[in-house]
Amino acid sequence: SNLDYSSYLKDWIRAVPDWPHEGVMFRDITPLLQNPKTFRMLIDIFVHRYMGEKIDVIAGLDARGFIIGSVLAYELNVGFVPIRKKGKLPYTTVEEEYELEYGNATVEMHTDAVKQGDRVILIDDLVATGGTMMAGYKLLKRLGADVVEASAIIELPELKGGELIRGSGLSLFTVCSFE
Ligand code: PRP
Ligand code: ADE
Repeated sequence: SNLDYSSYLKDWIRAVPDWPHEGVMFRDITPLLQNPKTFRMLIDIFVHRYMGEKIDVIAGLDARGFIIGSVLAYELNVGFVPIRKKGKLPYTTVEEEYELEYGNATVEMHTDAVKQGDRVILIDDLVATGGTMMAGYKLLKRLGADVVEASAIIELPELKGGELIRGSGLSLFTVCSFE
């Protein structure tokens, strides 16, 4: 089951203390991606979750959401759209500002990235405060998309992003949590 996979995959996520700042325990997914077996197990969890659903688009968050989101889109035979940090997308965009630990950031999406009524899975590697996921959700809703679920590898419950997202009425799926 996914739960068995989850506890196995969790051991492939590296904890890096005091990065990028003192006091932060960084959850590094590169060992999980580097090992071909765990990379496949990870992608399969998302594929199995969504393969029976009617999904039109996978929207991936800059930058680690691109890695898993694009593979998931390919496997589900649907398109992939990037939600990028401000200033990277060349065509007409909609943008949304969100709070970071220090200061603000802005994400953008092309105005033609999704159509009204498109059923979308929004994906990223990790939910901390939930600010990034919520900004992506707001952009998708502004463009008229139907966001079926937000999805991530890791949730940090201490930072309450899961509560923020689920409290807004958006379903959130995560593979594992670190307290
Ligand atoms: C990290 C992570 C998520 C976000 C989660 O990205 O990949 O996108 O932070 O934090 P939040 O829930 O508090 O919003 P980061 O902004 O470090 O950018 P990167 O993917 O370019 O490294
Ligand atoms: N993004 C926000 N907090 C993070 C953490 N602790 N590890 C990895 N990415 C993060």
